[in-house]
Amino acid sequence: MSLTLVQAWTQARRRLEAAGVDGPVIDARLLLEAAAGASRTDILTDPHRLLTAAQAAALEALLARREAREPVSHILGRKGFWKVELKVTADVLTPRPDTETLVDALLKSLPEEAPMRILDLGTGSGAILLALLAERPAWSGVGVDISTAALEVARENAALLKLEDRAGFVHASWTQGQPDAAFDAVAANPPYIPSGDIAALEPEVSVHEPRLALDGGPDGLDAYRVLAPEVLRVLRPAGVFALEIGHDQGQAVEALMRAGGAGYCRVVSDLGQRDRVVIGRAKA
Ligand SMILES: C[S@@+](CC[C@H](N)C(=O)[O-])C[C@H]1O[C@@H](n2cnc3c(N)ncnc32)[C@H](O)[C@@H]1O
Repeated sequence: MSLTLVQAWTQARRRLEAAGVDGPVIDARLLLEAAAGASRTDILTDPHRLLTAAQAAALEALLARREAREPVSHILGRKGFWKVELKVTADVLTPRPDTETLVDALLKSLPEEAPMRILDLGTGSGAILLALLAERPAWSGVGVDISTAALEVARENAALLKLEDRAGFVHASWTQGQPDAAFDAVAANPPYIPSGDIAALEPEVSVHEPRLALDGGPDGLDAYRVLAPEVLRVLRPAGVFALEIGHDQGQAVEALMRAGGAGYCRVVSDLGQRDRVVIGRAKA
């Protein structure tokens, strides 16, 4: 028997709930929209529309993947971040709302109209760099990643967003090959989860996100130890840096940046009031 849109949504929600998925209502709706070629408005205004057999089969396939705890972003191949939509694959970290705190902090710290040059270290999908460039037509920048597969996704996202003229991508380890004092701002969301904590995370992260995007070494701070002096080397005098951090890493990362030579430094909280970004400036 065919299901209506609203019946399919309810059944999907129940199945995802039983599978332990966090946020089953929204995930069920997103998968239903994709399978039935329906918008959120269609589901609300035409709830009794029947699914075709092909749509029901498509929904079944998507639900089976989500029940196995594959992230919705991987299943749909896309994720909204800041004001852009990004292609996402299993080779890149799914961009997080937490990281929008970093984008917001950088946008507020730099002049809007001046041609700022941005370096995004560990660019992944290109999320940070592309969100900034989409917002500021005068800015340009470089995204760096050690993963060639991630860089392919970032380049594709730049092209999809028509930002490829202002966004370059480089395969390197962090700042390797970048000249001194070349950037007005440096952003980084490095891997910062302590190695021993990864296995206990939700399977969407521990199984499906790239280990290279997560593993911050024994105490989670390995990348910041490398980045602190290097970020300050590649920043112009009084240039701005913004580093995403784990909620309990604010003091440690601030101390590393000060020891690395930062002129000014502070911790910014996210919308959940947890420490999320260390922002500061190189000495003038
Ligand atoms: C937490 S993810 C951040 C991805 C993206 N910037 C975001 O905010 O969604 C960390 C990224 O750093 C990259 N990475 C890890 N080690 C690196 C290294 N030594 N040099 C450059 N990138 C590195 C990973 O491949 C991954 O794409």
